[in-house]
Amino acid sequence: MAKRVIDQVDVAGRRVLMRVDYNVPMEEGAITDDRRIRQSLESVRSVMDRGGRLILMSHLGRPKGTGVEPAFSLAPVARRLGELLQCSVAFAADCVGAPADESVAAVRDGGVLLLENLRFHAAETLIDSAKKNPDKKPTAEQKAAIESFAAGLARHADLYCNNAFGTCHRKHVSMYDVPMRLGPGRRVCGHLVQKELKFLGDATTNPRRPFAAILGGAKVSDKIGVIEQLLSRVDAILIGGAMSYTFYAAKGLGVGASLCERDKIDLARGLLDKAGAKLHLPQDSVCAAKLEAGAATSTHAGNVPDGLMGLDIGPATAAAYAKQIESAATVLWNGPMGVFETPPFDAGTLAVARALAEATRRGATTIIGGGDSAAAVDAAGLADSMSHISTGGGASLEYLERGSFATLDLLDEA
Ligand code: 3PG
Ligand code: MG
Repeated sequence: MAKRVIDQVDVAGRRVLMRVDYNVPMEEGAITDDRRIRQSLESVRSVMDRGGRLILMSHLGRPKGTGVEPAFSLAPVARRLGELLQCSVAFAADCVGAPADESVAAVRDGGVLLLENLRFHAAETLIDSAKKNPDKKPTAEQKAAIESFAAGLARHADLYCNNAFGTCHRKHVSMYDVPMRLGPGRRVCGHLVQKELKFLGDATTNPRRPFAAILGGAKVSDKIGVIEQLLSRVDAILIGGAMSYTFYAAKGLGVGASLCERDKIDLARGLLDKAGAKLHLPQDSVCAAKLEAGAATSTHAGNVPDGLMGLDIGPATAAAYAKQIESAATVLWNGPMGVFETPPFDAGTLAVARALAEATRRGATTIIGGGDSAAAVDAAGLADSMSHISTGGGASLEYLERGSFATLDLLDEA
């Protein structure tokens, strides 16, 4: 069922408490990638332009939960948001209690306030993802802390809006307990969540064919659920990254000194059996004795020789994968093909990024799961050449795996 979106409700004169994911990368207090902020703007403007009173809340990083830690303050984000909106963005020194209540009371129609980091309060994260703790019940003490924190946040709101796709896999207080407390008829989603669901949901469950998925990264264990889910929907799964070598080991191929999850070899064998001809492994690898920028490399087909590590897919694999990608109508990509932060082991990942850009130009729907693959697309200067780049790393993987989130299920239907 489609969810009601923020622009479908009247917000004039009402306080809209919008959960955003402004957990942006920072270096020495400077934001190094503001995609998550920019992607929130459509909903932010929708509230402000229609005379709503916008109260934004987010987490940043993983502070201890024992009060303010300056390195995790959202103050730089408020400044960046002000630059993007070209208006002043008020900032509250805490998300609950007197400082927050006073700041919220001062917001005028069409105005915007950002609350300080939710995770300065331990209560926010007491219950984590449903995946990690499906049956975990909070203790009485935790329950009380959660309820009091949820009440402190919910009092800022006439209406709740979830526009924090990157955090939807977390059953945190601001994501779950606050909208639960507000009750039906007062909880909607934002445009970013709507867009993410369109691409990660609809486009991959009813894909235009052929549908190819490219999965990379270091560990098979991170991708098992996704591979199992995608197998019945895709025409091809192209594997890259160090997880290839766990599959190599399962097939009895030599892995040399490559990363390999020894305890997941049986599992990899099971996936290979299930997937049959749909699952493609790299036919060659770029190898080196150590992982170092500019290290001496050699390319090997099949077995990785003793003493060497496979650090990227080889040129024959890159060409074969590019061909598959360029002839697909839907392409989903999650996880780099090699150690792309360390050249020359970025070549395979860049080749895949370029093939996706070419596929987009030809009219294919191209979807990039967040995290490392989004960073690789950025590094290749191709961010504008994809149909969709998810703002969720963990969230996009978990959504592909589970197809729903409790934090979204509770929102009002359209
Ligand atoms: C993320 O970037 O993964 C989201 O913002 C969620 O953050 P978390 O992984 O620290 O919960
Ligand atoms: Mg995360």
